[in-house]
Amino acid sequence: MKDRLEELASQALQRIADAETTADLEQVDKTILGRKGELACLMRGIGSLPAEERKPFGRLVNERKEAIEAALGARREAFDAVRQQARLQDSRYDPTEPGLAVPTGHLHPITRVRREVEEIFLGLGFDVVDGPEVETEEFNFDLLNIPAHHPARDNQDTFWLESGHVLRTHTSPVQLRAMRARGGQPPLRVIAPGRVFRNEQPDRTHEAIFHQVEGLMVDRGITVADMKGVLALFLSRLFGGDVEVRLRPHYFPFVEPGFELDMRPAGSPPEAEWLEALGCGMVHPDVLAAGGFDPDQVTGWAFGMGLDRVAMMRHGIDDLRWMLGGDLRFLQQF
Ligand code: DAH
Repeated sequence: MKDRLEELASQALQRIADAETTADLEQVDKTILGRKGELACLMRGIGSLPAEERKPFGRLVNERKEAIEAALGARREAFDAVRQQARLQDSRYDPTEPGLAVPTGHLHPITRVRREVEEIFLGLGFDVVDGPEVETEEFNFDLLNIPAHHPARDNQDTFWLESGHVLRTHTSPVQLRAMRARGGQPPLRVIAPGRVFRNEQPDRTHEAIFHQVEGLMVDRGITVADMKGVLALFLSRLFGGDVEVRLRPHYFPFVEPGFELDMRPAGSPPEAEWLEALGCGMVHPDVLAAGGFDPDQVTGWAFGMGLDRVAMMRHGIDDLRWMLGGDLRFLQQF
């Protein structure tokens, strides 16, 4: 049996040395070392040896087996190296060529508008704050003076959760959160940009998800003049060129008086059109009180503006539904 082992081993090593392809090596691996190979077959006969020879024979089989495995490994590596060399020499393969480009994205037009708004207000001493998209009924409606029968509270218009929470329908509830966080201590200057939700049938100008920015300033002696001045400055910076603004009285439950603010380029002829830009007003005393401020000591102004429309005007986009559609053919244009 020992002779048979040595014969097998030297045959195997010879075949490995003579191998021309990796397939030849796999063949040796299988027929000699494999579970049904020659060595396994030899080992099965070990019982026919005298007891004291079995152990040394077993050890010898293992030694030969390891030698064959080592020879196989070395030849495989040699084949790999040859293949690698051939690949490098292949004239079609240029290792200095740049790799596949990973496509990079870019900021969404709405994100860019939001960041510009933030920069402008940060420069005016405002903080940027955040509020939850899932709001309580109290913050979204009650504490903003929006009464129980108001149509905005209808589930035709608002997404209600089974818990009784709402998906906030505007960024105005952040006014209350910011006031409370300030602990009733003026001054307070914040903006709060974010997503808002309404149960709309989407069309060119309506979507169930859109974006607003809320602004709030509270201090002693704040007037409508402060509001008008800050908002005119803000819009001039946002649209890049002086604008003039006008206030039209408008009812919003959480401000008194309330306005819609229109704008147009400064120096426009009298008949030039006004563009409605945002809603604003002097914070209602009840809302100041709900925010923890004393309405006898302080006053404040607030505004709310849609961000989507700014991005659309800027890029000449005529359908709001593109904005969150995620279609790269659309997005890659900006
Ligand atoms: N929350 C209002 C809306 O979604 C917008 C608004 C109007 C916000 C007047 C204000 C404001 O802060 O003073 O239509």
